Amino acid sequence: MAIANAIRKAIGASSWIRKMFEEGARLKALYGERAVFDFSLGNPDLEPPSQFTEKLLELVQDEELGTHGYMPNAGYQQTRAAMARKVAREHRVDVTAKHVVMCVGAAGGLNVVLKTILNPGDEVLVVRPYFVEYGAYVGNHGGVLRTVDPTPDFGISPENIAAALSPKAAAIIVNSPNNPTGKIYPEASIQALGATLSAHAAKSGRRVVLLVDEPYRDLVYGGKVTPPIACHYSDTIVVNSFSKSLSLAGERIGYIAAAPTCEAIEELMGGLIMCNRTLGFVNAPALMQRAVAALEQTTIDISPYERRRNILTEGLAAAGIEFCEPDGAFYLFCKSPQSDDVKFVSHLKEHRILAVPGQGFGYPGWFRLSYAVPDWVVQGAVERFRAAMQEWRG
Ligand SMILES: Cc1ncc(COP(=O)(O)O)c(C=O)c1O
Repeated sequence: MAIANAIRKAIGASSWIRKMFEEGARLKALYGERAVFDFSLGNPDLEPPSQFTEKLLELVQDEELGTHGYMPNAGYQQTRAAMARKVAREHRVDVTAKHVVMCVGAAGGLNVVLKTILNPGDEVLVVRPYFVEYGAYVGNHGGVLRTVDPTPDFGISPENIAAALSPKAAAIIVNSPNNPTGKIYPEASIQALGATLSAHAAKSGRRVVLLVDEPYRDLVYGGKVTPPIACHYSDTIVVNSFSKSLSLAGERIGYIAAAPTCEAIEELMGGLIMCNRTLGFVNAPALMQRAVAALEQTTIDISPYERRRNILTEGLAAAGIEFCEPDGAFYLFCKSPQSDDVKFVSHLKEHRILAVPGQGFGYPGWFRLSYAVPDWVVQGAVERFRAAMQEWRG
């Protein structure tokens, strides 16, 4: 049976992250696990906190009946209420349980929102560089991804956003802390973005959805805090997950929370709940919903990520590689010494360092390193980066 043309094309253009990950597996088979410094994949390598394991043990021994069956598609009431408290606290909005839908990770949540709000040909804006899967998610629901240039320091430019807002604009995705730059957008720039979107609504009559994708909200360093976003714009929908903050990426648990001020909020919630069901998820995993309800204020100990970030940034600076100073997440976005990022990434590969070219994030001339890797990878790679740069300079 032939597969769909669009899927054949998408497989052919398989993501750079995946390509580099596969290359890493090949090199490891050839030279041994410890001879390859693989910074390609953003897969949390820290274990979930002990509170999670303790909660799971308690839940599996719970003899209450019916805990593994279907439930209301939006999720358990108690879990939705816990997530509403979390979002209200973090975003300074009056979100309640009825504004929350539990979903299958942030990826599932983004797809549910986009399916709910997009009409064919609608545009979704995103600031470059960006998480490349957004293109597929928007395309899944008949939308068109439209990229917007950042400020020189990878911030949001309200002027560039205003220029990109066409009558077809339905949403803008904001990811803070950002994959791949690690940048937290400051509250002032979120405020300016909110003002730009409100001005557009007043002029065009169309209220663009501010879709906040924040799986890295709690992974922030040096005492920084991810500022609230929803309080700065009426039509904000927050999508978050516990993939990174509790290291539960494989358990697929997240939530969608809509600001009560969203246009036609009741119809919107009805749409989100229906799409959660009809995309095939039916509801978010039951056991995980019951676990995270008790852990909405818990995160992993992020100090290992912070330690690796510090080793890596010092090592790269000493090697003469420029990078965007990361506030959070576990990525470092570095400037390729030559505009051809693929060529430089191949050069790093000669030194058995695996990175992802910036063009995999819509931003050529740069490359991404993920430091969700064991300490020995980071420590061992510093000397390799130095040697690679020395050879590159000739
Ligand atoms: C920016 C961004 N959004 C969404 C996701 C998907 O997260 P989840 O695993 O919770 O679906 C990722 C995963 O790496 C990501 O980096």
